[in-house]
Amino acid sequence: MDAFPTLRTERLILRQFLPSDAGDLQRLAGAKEVAAGTFLPHPYEDGVAERWIAGLQQDYDSGKAVHFAVVLAIDRALLGSIGLDIAAAHRHARIGYWLGVPYWNRGYGTEAVRAVLGYGFTALQLHRICGPHFAGNAASGRVLQKAGMTYEGRLRGHYLRLGRFVDVELYGILEAEFTAR
Ligand SMILES: CC(C)(COP(=O)(O)OP(=O)(O)OC[C@H]1O[C@@H](n2cnc3c(N)ncnc32)[C@H](O)[C@@H]1OP(=O)(O)O)[C@@H](O)C(=O)NCCC(=O)NCCS
Repeated sequence: MDAFPTLRTERLILRQFLPSDAGDLQRLAGAKEVAAGTFLPHPYEDGVAERWIAGLQQDYDSGKAVHFAVVLAIDRALLGSIGLDIAAAHRHARIGYWLGVPYWNRGYGTEAVRAVLGYGFTALQLHRICGPHFAGNAASGRVLQKAGMTYEGRLRGHYLRLGRFVDVELYGILEAEFTAR
C-alpha cells in the first residue's frame, strides 16, 4: 500500500492519527453529545484511543478502512475524525465522521466530508459512497446534503445502539455525480 495520505482543504488538514493524538482524541470523543451520533464507546475509557490509533495503519494497509485525524491548518489543533469503511469487492464505502463539540457549526464537517468524497472517488476509485446517520441527527443530514449527497431513504431499526434499535437515514453519491458537480 502507498504511504498514508494527507488531504488539505481551505482550513483543514486531514492526516494520519499519531500516538500523540490519544489524549485529545479521548477528551473530544468522550463527550456524550459526540457519542450520541456515533458508535464511539461511551464512556470513552483510558487506553481506547491508543488502541484504536494503533490499529489504523493495518486497516489502511489491508484496504479495509481509512480514518483521518481532522486538524485545523492554522494551529494544528485536533478537531475530530473522519473516515471511510471500504468494501473493495463492490468499490463502495461508508463515510463516518465526528467533531469535538467546540468545533460544531462552523462548516468544518462539510469541508472534511467533501475532501474525503474527493479522495474516495479519485485515489480509491470508488463507485459509490454512502452516508448513514441516526434519525434525528439533523446536523449530520445537513452536512451530507451540503456535500452533494442524495437522500435515499430510511432504514427502520437498522442499528442497535446502547440497547435500542435506531432508524437510520441513508444518503449516497455515485462517482459520476461527484465528478459532474
Ligand atoms: C455532524 C457533525 C460532524 C457536523 O459537523 P459541523 O462542522 O457542525 O457541520 P457543518 O458546520 O458543516 O454543518 C452543520 C449544519 O447543520 C445545521 N445544524 C446544526 N444543528 C442542527 C440541528 N439541531 N437541527 C438542524 N440543523 C442543524 C447547521 O446549521 C449547519 O447547516 P447550515 O450550514 O445549512 O446552517 C457534528 O455535529 C458532530 O460531530 N456531531 C456528533 C457526531 C455525529 O453525529 N457524527 C455524524 C455521524 S453520522
